[in-house]
Amino acid sequence: MYTSDDKSKPRAPISVPSLRVAKRDGRKLVMLTAYDAGFARAIDTAGVDIVLVGDSLGMVVQGKSSTIPVSLADMVYHTACVARGLRSALLVADMPFQSYPTPERALDSAARLLAEGGAAMVMLEGAGHVLDCIRFLVERDIPVCAHLGLTPQSVMKLGGYSVQGREGEAAQRLFDDALAVEAAGAELLVLECVPSTLAKRISAALTIPTIGIGAGSDCDGQVLVLHDLLGLASGHRRPRFVKDFLAEGGSVVGAVRAFAAAVRDGGFPDAEHSYD
Ligand code: KIV
Repeated sequence: MYTSDDKSKPRAPISVPSLRVAKRDGRKLVMLTAYDAGFARAIDTAGVDIVLVGDSLGMVVQGKSSTIPVSLADMVYHTACVARGLRSALLVADMPFQSYPTPERALDSAARLLAEGGAAMVMLEGAGHVLDCIRFLVERDIPVCAHLGLTPQSVMKLGGYSVQGREGEAAQRLFDDALAVEAAGAELLVLECVPSTLAKRISAALTIPTIGIGAGSDCDGQVLVLHDLLGLASGHRRPRFVKDFLAEGGSVVGAVRAFAAAVRDGGFPDAEHSYD
């Protein structure tokens, strides 16, 4: 167990402005989810740049069938737990379902995730009306990570968890949405389940980093759900982009280090873990 008297030398904290510097310098960003202090500490020790408290906690921690029942109180609680385990990684908290129906409500929700949870950035799914929320938060000095492609809070509308932006019109819409979230002030963009060629085009067009999950190796960084990286079955169909790093890493910290190394040297994701 890592304890507070762990003697290893801490890394410099990862700041929001350093994300664009990493993209400019061609350094891939490594992002991973966490939901509690113990795993957060292990992940930080393993050198991950960004820790996301995802609303995926609804499925992997709470055992629910989607992210929709996750509440703001759940997110604040788990974000605060994770914050206590981190020393250097940048902490991003997901804004849960219907916590940003208007810019004012988005501000109330984001303020709780920063002030009570200790997050440095919040993540919002989608574009459309969400662009106003992003602008409203950024104008009030709240850093935003946008999330496009397969946006799990829209699973009812999307009709399932499928690859997004495959056809010409849908691909163009996703590309335009990516430009729009950057123009609205987002500092980071997660692209989930998007064909590799489209993610490559988007990454080349933006100055902010893109973080892929099922979006190919040309994104500026990669994210996985911690439980997927550790090979824990969620009770749901295992998506193509998931890779169990525990086998090669040999321990939790070893698995996270193996993931981080594979992201940084471009070895993950390969074609087998991406969509055409
Ligand atoms: O909730 C989550 O964990 C996420 C990641 C899969 C990007 O949104």
